[in-house]
Amino acid sequence: MKSVKPYTALADVYDVAMDHVDYESWADFILHLIGDEVEKSNPSILELGCGTGLLTEQLLIQSEFFVLATDASSDMLRMARERLLPHKGQYKVTRLDFESGWDGFGESADIVLLMYDGFNYILTLEGVSSFLEGVGHHLNEGGIVLFDQSTPANSINNAEYFEDAGSTGDVEFVRRSTYDEKSGLHTTEFEISSQRGHFFEKHIQRAWTRTEIMGAVENSSLKIRATFDGFSLDAANDKSERIHWVLEKEI
Ligand SMILES: C[S@@+](CC[C@H](N)C(=O)[O-])C[C@H]1O[C@@H](n2cnc3c(N)ncnc32)[C@H](O)[C@@H]1O
Repeated sequence: MKSVKPYTALADVYDVAMDHVDYESWADFILHLIGDEVEKSNPSILELGCGTGLLTEQLLIQSEFFVLATDASSDMLRMARERLLPHKGQYKVTRLDFESGWDGFGESADIVLLMYDGFNYILTLEGVSSFLEGVGHHLNEGGIVLFDQSTPANSINNAEYFEDAGSTGDVEFVRRSTYDEKSGLHTTEFEISSQRGHFFEKHIQRAWTRTEIMGAVENSSLKIRATFDGFSLDAANDKSERIHWVLEKEI
C-alpha cells in the first residue's frame, strides 16, 4: 500500500465518505447566519478548504453570491471544478493554503468561510494565529469570518462512528479514527483501493477547545461577533461538539 498526502487518493471517494453530511441544510444554516450578520445584499464569499465543492455547490444553488472556492489540495480542486461547471460565472476555483499560503494572494471578500473541520487541520496555536491574520487581511470592511470546528467533546462522544467503509464505482475506502485526549489529536487513517492502486492516507486534526480559540481570537486583529452551538442559534458552550464562529474586524 502506498502512503500518500492527505486529500490526494481520497479525492476520488470523498463524496461517498461524506454521504452522511446534509450539505443542503448546512448551506441553508450558513446563509441564514450570513443574512443575520451581513448588511450587504450580495456579498462575495471566499471559501477556504472547499474540498470537492459539496458545500460550494449548495451555496451556489441557494444564493446568488459569487464564491471564490479554494483548497490546498489540487486533487480536491479537480473534483470541485467538475462539480461546479453548471454554475459557470458564479464562482472561481483557485489553490490556497489557509495556514501558510496567504503571501501574494490578491483577493478579498465580504465573507470568509471555512466549513466542516478544515480548521481542525491547524495543529498549532502559531498556525491558528497565521490563519486569523490571513483571513483578517483578506476580509472587506463590514464583513465576517465564519468557520466551524469540532471540539474534544465531539471526539469523545462519537467514538462509535470511528470506523466505517464505503465504495463508489471501482473505488473503495476504509476509515479508522483514534483520539488522544492528552494531546487533543484526532487521527484518521484511510485505506483507498481503486484501479489506480492501494493507497494509505493519515490525517491528523486537532480538537480545539472553545477557550483555546477564544484566546487566539483575542490576540488577533479580529473579534468575536457570535458563537453557535452546533447547528443551533444558541451560544456555544464547553459541551458543544461543534462550534460555528462568527468573527469581525476589530475597529
Ligand atoms: C473535511 S474536508 C472539508 C471540505 C469541504 N469544506 C466540505 O465541507 O466538504 C477539509 C478540507 O480542508 C482542506 N485543507 C486542510 N488543510 C488546509 C490548508 N492548510 N489550506 C487549505 N485547505 C486545507 C483539505 O484539502 C480538505 O479539502
